[in-house]
Amino acid sequence: MLADLKLPGALEAADQVLSEADSGSLTAGEAIHKLLGAQISLRNNRRLQAAMRSSRLPAVKTFDQFDFSFQPSIKREQIDSLAELGFLERKENVVLLGPPGVGKTHLAISLATAAAQHGRRVYYSTLADLVTSLEEAQAAGTLKRRLTVLSHPSLLVVDEIGYLPVSQSGAVLFFQLMGRRYEHASTVLTSNKGFEEWGQVLGDDVMAAALIDRVLHHCHIVNIRGNSYRMREHSDLWRTLQPDAEHRSPNPEPSEVPSS
Ligand SMILES: Nc1ncnc2c1ncn2[C@@H]1O[C@H](COP(=O)(O)OP(=O)(O)O)[C@@H](O)[C@H]1O
Ligand SMILES: [Mg+2]
Repeated sequence: MLADLKLPGALEAADQVLSEADSGSLTAGEAIHKLLGAQISLRNNRRLQAAMRSSRLPAVKTFDQFDFSFQPSIKREQIDSLAELGFLERKENVVLLGPPGVGKTHLAISLATAAAQHGRRVYYSTLADLVTSLEEAQAAGTLKRRLTVLSHPSLLVVDEIGYLPVSQSGAVLFFQLMGRRYEHASTVLTSNKGFEEWGQVLGDDVMAAALIDRVLHHCHIVNIRGNSYRMREHSDLWRTLQPDAEHRSPNPEPSEVPSS
């Protein structure tokens, strides 16, 4: 019957569950729970694999793999609460700010991975790639369709805002996309630049201000101040590479950020 109902996960677990039930180590209720649980976990795994293929996530990263003790400026409760994904239901955004290597991409991907595990559609892109794909669509006369496709995922990760400058026309396209997603679906943005520098990144102060206004309207800000995890074995070198090296303590307190 399990085969007929196309429940391969439960079918695979059936022998084991039945023998445990027969031997009395599982009650009838526990046996049903375990049988259906096996099917659900198979389904969730398949969903994750399918979502991973279409999401363009560069890797699977999870919160479990993140060493919070290395990054004391991160409020653990804030990340735990984001990991429950209520922000997706509420169509809120998340902005991860901080210097290179502090785990912005890791945490953004962990949120996307968790969302994919819950069957939500997710999509990952760096800002540079996102803008290129929008510009290509515009040149091909398919911008409207591309904007619609990119407004659909429940979670869009826009990584690396600030490393590469974006052309002003590219920034307009990004602004259009964020306008479509505003109050409609969540976006997770990461940047090594504070908001005051986004005007420079996007080549237009007025548009950057309007973008930030929308992004911050329903938003969680994770401001990470700390050392690069990539450079953790070279902390002396890392310190000399920091522009304001002599003023920094190894793990300074995060500066105040506006909360919304
Ligand atoms: N606190 C941490 N615990 C475990 N791994 C981390 C931590 N912070 C960063 N990493 C790892 O270090 C590398 C760089 O982190 P990443 O998220 O890419 O940094 P960022 O995006 O801020 O530049 C990644 O491989 C990431 O998985
Ligand atoms: Mg990154």
